[in-house]
Amino acid sequence: GKEVMNMNNQRSNFSGKLGFVLAAAGSAVGLGNIWRFPYLAAKYGGGIFLLIYLILVATFGYAMIVSESAIGRMTQKSPVGAFNILGKGKGHGFFCFGGWLNAIIPIIIVPYYSVIGGWVFKYLWEYLTGGVHRVADDSFFSDFISNSASAEFWFILFTLVTIGIIFAGVENGIERVSRIMMPLLVLLAVIVSIYSVTRPGAMEGVKYFLIPDFAHFSWMTIVTAMGQMFYSLSIAMGILITFGSYMKKEVSIEGSTSNVEIFDTAIAILAGLMIIPAVFAFSGADAAANLKAGPSLMFIMIPKVFDSMGLGQFGGIVFFLLVLLAAITSSIALAESAASTFQDELGWGRRKATIVVAVIMLALGSLSSLGFGVLGNIKIIGMDFLDFFDFLSNSVMMPIAAFAICILVVYKVGVDRIAEEVTVSGKFRRRKLYNFVIRYAAPLFIIIILISSILNAFG
Ligand code: PHE
Repeated sequence: GKEVMNMNNQRSNFSGKLGFVLAAAGSAVGLGNIWRFPYLAAKYGGGIFLLIYLILVATFGYAMIVSESAIGRMTQKSPVGAFNILGKGKGHGFFCFGGWLNAIIPIIIVPYYSVIGGWVFKYLWEYLTGGVHRVADDSFFSDFISNSASAEFWFILFTLVTIGIIFAGVENGIERVSRIMMPLLVLLAVIVSIYSVTRPGAMEGVKYFLIPDFAHFSWMTIVTAMGQMFYSLSIAMGILITFGSYMKKEVSIEGSTSNVEIFDTAIAILAGLMIIPAVFAFSGADAAANLKAGPSLMFIMIPKVFDSMGLGQFGGIVFFLLVLLAAITSSIALAESAASTFQDELGWGRRKATIVVAVIMLALGSLSSLGFGVLGNIKIIGMDFLDFFDFLSNSVMMPIAAFAICILVVYKVGVDRIAEEVTVSGKFRRRKLYNFVIRYAAPLFIIIILISSILNAFG
């Protein structure tokens, strides 16, 4: 059997457990872990953010990831089709809407994702050409993103690479690359985080990141942790339904999904350890301000780490290369799932679907990219374009998409049928937890989060 999904019409299978785990991990591990998680953890409370995140992954994330894979495998469909079939009868309209929402989210994410992928590209280029000191300069990052032509160039390059790989149909090759890349990424992350946490002054950062302190808690801590959990695990956006549909019956759903969760979370924590202690060690009096730096955090702190260490140029090249590869495996999953929605639901050919996705990426991504430069004066509900798309997808659309999945499972599929699908192959040890989360905790929690995040944005 083929390891990777085959996008040309007939539904192929992952060869075994490793196939699903690799594809799901390739899509899960990306900029979300290395770029997004550390800056959110730094900004929204450190240890308390981490604690809430871990609890959410183990309960809510777990229930979602199992639901989606099971739904995919039992229907053999991608999200729109799965919702359409399972949601027949009362409330069909709502479920169709839910299916489409799941399918549309990747289209909103992949453009701005590619903007950040472009930043990674730029940094890799700087390290390759010897700019170790230059990139560590305080104003390097802001100068770069506000220079519209340059930011746009790297964004377009990243987009073309993503689309090019899909066109060339060499995703299989990419999966093979990611099989080597993932262990390397872990290894490098371990080395750099050890270096980071042993810098003078870094211990304070380690404490800030690892020890929960309720004084740093705010409602936004929960809201953001939940959005991050969706984002990082690639849930509530249809992708795992699609992957589930390629999963063979003899593969254990519970076993492989927990592998993905553990791996994804481990990388996020390592990234936190690379970046947050460095804030305390390298930014001196600016530490408090830098903790709140937001999306720029990784691009400001990592260069300072490499600048201070021997072999910094080499370290920078390897680091940004690995991050770039992780970002590309994710952007491919995003763009491809967008394209396959157009193919499956609108009957378009693969070529047309891919071109339309490329055009959407270039248009919406340019708004996000130029939003730090020539379009800097335009704000949507007080946000830059990039922040806005990030907010719209993670804090508004994904909670609704997740809600639709919960309701579908509870009222249409039934938790017992999910359990049946899960136990076809292997155990369902956390079945009680699953039932409780999907029936009560998740729907209630989602509603509260959704309302509060919208009030927050407009308040
Ligand atoms: N989970 C990816 C990350 O952490 C982003 C992503 C989201 C990829 C959705 C695919 C689908 O970077």
